[in-house]
Amino acid sequence: MSLFATKSIDALLAQAEGEKSLKRSLSALSLVALGIGAIIGAGIFTLTGVAAATHAGPAIVYSFILAAFGCAFAGLCYSEFSTMIPIAGSAYTYSYATMGELVAWIIGWALVLEYAVGAATVAVSWAATFDSILLSFGIEMPRAIVASPYSPQPGSANLLAVAIVFVITGILIRGISESAKFNDVIVVLKVAVVIFFIGIGYFFINQQNYRPFLPPNTGEFGAFGWSGVLAAAGQIFFAYIGFDAVSTAAQEARDPKRDMPIGIIGSLAICTVLYILYSLVLTGIVNYKDLNVAAPLAVAVDHMKGLPWIGFLMKLGSLCGLTSVMLVMLLGQSRVFYSMANDGLLPKLFSDIHPSFRTPWKSNLVLMVFVSAGAAFTPIDRLGDLTSIGTLFAFSVVCVGIVIMRRKRPDLPRPFRTPMVPLIPILGVVVNLALMAGLGAITWAAFLTWMIAGLIIYFAYSRKNSSLQRAG
Ligand code: ALA
Repeated sequence: MSLFATKSIDALLAQAEGEKSLKRSLSALSLVALGIGAIIGAGIFTLTGVAAATHAGPAIVYSFILAAFGCAFAGLCYSEFSTMIPIAGSAYTYSYATMGELVAWIIGWALVLEYAVGAATVAVSWAATFDSILLSFGIEMPRAIVASPYSPQPGSANLLAVAIVFVITGILIRGISESAKFNDVIVVLKVAVVIFFIGIGYFFINQQNYRPFLPPNTGEFGAFGWSGVLAAAGQIFFAYIGFDAVSTAAQEARDPKRDMPIGIIGSLAICTVLYILYSLVLTGIVNYKDLNVAAPLAVAVDHMKGLPWIGFLMKLGSLCGLTSVMLVMLLGQSRVFYSMANDGLLPKLFSDIHPSFRTPWKSNLVLMVFVSAGAAFTPIDRLGDLTSIGTLFAFSVVCVGIVIMRRKRPDLPRPFRTPMVPLIPILGVVVNLALMAGLGAITWAAFLTWMIAGLIIYFAYSRKNSSLQRAG
């Protein structure tokens, strides 16, 4: 059977109908909250500092605007897919239905970078924030166990990050009732931290730090200047990742036609505004050269003399926020693996359900080992860049998928239609590929190695075991 065999959409929809149907309980507001819960995390709390220090300086603001465009175009395409094929599995499922098994595999494999490597990135940020909270109580952890060997201030292994991955895995195996209420509280906390920081930080801005606003290029691509803005955009793109998680809730939305685009685009728009203001304030309080650290928020807060309790609350709020992002990412990863294993593309181990907890516990444990190893030994900017490149790639494929679907199945009901097709999807591909181009050679090498490894696994294992190929 062909590498491009597609899963029938009608079968997918029938399968969704057949499953115990989920309660349509999520309002537009809950969907926006769901998005923000998954979006605000390590990107804004950590990578913004690293990207400003190494690529763009205060001009990081332009990077946020550029990346927002890439996300908005992809977000519109996600909205159309999520209302047309309202089924879990997100981009993996969409591509299986549109571009066939090989592309679906490639996307599923790229999503590991988004979710699993993303979770490792957030774990490193969590560890840095936690460490800084302990420090404020005068407790100093030995460097050896709070930093990877390749961090700017090296350690042996980031065991704090490993610990949080273990805890989150435990929670996931036990099964969280994905209570919207719990998420709402975290979201309010997170947004409050960011608004507080902007509002109070504004008074601590030192105009000197904005000069120069766009530091001149040092002669190397991506090291400041406009190429630096592009490189930083690829890096802080990470901060926007998560709005696509809203698409997985299409089956639970009260009025998906109206509410999915509101959830996806609304959460993106709110975060864009917050990010622009936040990065302006951050680079205004601390000189960009001093921001190459794992917890820049903490550094900035330490500059706000006389307000230690506010700093403490902010760190605590961001710690809660990072925890919820990790939950969403590790949950998303196990769900994608679950779908892939159900389709026979991965071993059954990944779809085995625990007899009493009813969660894919073996998958969670395998992920725990790899994610914690990544978090323990790799510096955060490398992890973040790898997450960004994988996600940008998946976004580009989703944009292409919309154009293909319009031709192949013009008849399918589309509760939400991406405007100006094919212009918007094409712009989505162009911007997202440009952001990928801005990420450095090491990231590209790691990405290509990962994808080649994926292809080897596909041809050696998945193709032979695919349920679709066997049925054919
Ligand atoms: N956008 C999420 C974060 O920044 C992944 O943590």
